[in-house]
Amino acid sequence: MVVNVAVDGPAGAGKSTISRAAAKELGFIYVDTGALYRAVGVYALRNGIGTKDSENIEKALKNIVVELKFVGDVQHVFLNGEDVSTEIRTPEASMAASDVSAIPCVRAFLFDLQRDIAKKNNCLMDGRDIGTVVLPDAKIKIFLTASAEERAKRRYKELVEKGAKDTYEEVLADLEKRDYQDSRREIAPLKPAEDSVIVDTSDYNFDEAKNIIVNIIKERI
Ligand code: DC
Repeated sequence: MVVNVAVDGPAGAGKSTISRAAAKELGFIYVDTGALYRAVGVYALRNGIGTKDSENIEKALKNIVVELKFVGDVQHVFLNGEDVSTEIRTPEASMAASDVSAIPCVRAFLFDLQRDIAKKNNCLMDGRDIGTVVLPDAKIKIFLTASAEERAKRRYKELVEKGAKDTYEEVLADLEKRDYQDSRREIAPLKPAEDSVIVDTSDYNFDEAKNIIVNIIKERI
């Protein structure tokens, strides 16, 4: 039997860095499902399709193949055969992902891919609806959160390190807008699963947060 761990939470709570490190320590694969929505968002941006234009996004899905491949334990996302793992990380791609993720046919389009990976692998899968919709039977569910200011501070630092010119205020406004959209949408909104353990990382450093997650998982396996 494989073990699946669902890790959900708002943007910038440290889900990806903490989950990646925890997965490595446990020998699980780490699956970042946001990358899938980002790839669809990038397709829309590249092709001049409005990211909230559900009719044209639905038509475009026929022309889109999204794949996840693991090189060692590093996930790469492919859009029609092209590795777009870097391009999906821009602030524009973040907002585009949030927009397209509210469209039901996009969620349906990406559903099987996520389920298939989880069926075959011990994994930590991170997203917004993993514990509630994608893997409702996951053995362990964690909802990772932090204050908006703390999340924006961390995201801003990451962007500055990459050479981006965004200001802290812009990063905070983007995060708050995404939180709002992701948690108010009709389909699969961001919310903790009833049986999830809620972990607020605002006052923890990276190692502390990672150890908390690893311990929660070890206790329950
Ligand atoms: O985790 P992330 O920031 O890379 O996700 C980008 C967007 O994709 C996020 O704002 C909402 C959407 N998303 C989602 O709706 N469901 C998921 N399981 C993962 C991401």
